[in-house]
Amino acid sequence: MIVKSAAFVRGAVKSSQYPSSSMPEIAFAGRSNVGKSSLINVLLGRKNLVRTSSTPGRTQTINFFLINNRFHFVDLPGYGYAKVPIEVRKRWGPMVESYLSSREGLCAVVVILDLRRQPNEADHDLLAWLARYSIPEIVVLTKADKLKKNKQNYQSRLIGEDLSKDPSSLILFSAATGMGKQVLWKAIEALF
Ligand code: GTP
Ligand code: MG
Repeated sequence: MIVKSAAFVRGAVKSSQYPSSSMPEIAFAGRSNVGKSSLINVLLGRKNLVRTSSTPGRTQTINFFLINNRFHFVDLPGYGYAKVPIEVRKRWGPMVESYLSSREGLCAVVVILDLRRQPNEADHDLLAWLARYSIPEIVVLTKADKLKKNKQNYQSRLIGEDLSKDPSSLILFSAATGMGKQVLWKAIEALF
């Protein structure tokens, strides 16, 4: 994919605020601080289009980006971080579930997991929602640069077992090195 243009459209907390659109859309979801915003920046080849932070829970709205005037990328707020204020955490479930269940153009959700960690209950809940709404998923294991090659393979096997998925269907990624960028674009393009 050649990214000719990429621009922030708006942040939303409810459906009336979503951009009205019949364009295809790809959403990105995962635990707080897992690296969603960094991954989107790498895919788009833009350093700081999406705000990243070492403070978990930075992204608290559903953020829409318009790419090549042809499709949307959607950065969903992260889940599962205890220090995020209680009001924000309570809002997360209904906010994200109503997005997932109602968005017409949604082609797929890229589910981002940390390669170093076993998926937790919230990760499983997200995958269960996607299955319930028949939304295709692409599972990405990020921060691969933090592990040596043999540990990367070991962890992706463990995570594959945990999710009952073939490890070869899981995309190893690193926002630090760009590893996995082309493979992920191919998977996204196949779902448009
Ligand atoms: P929230 O919006 O708070 O849910 O976080 P997020 O999932 O968008 O994470 P973000 O992209 O802001 O990254 C969180 C931290 O992880 C930042 O300090 C990033 O620099 C770092 N990070 C993200 N991806 C990678 C990666 O692939 N490798 C390494 N080494 N660090 C990464
Ligand atoms: Mg973020």
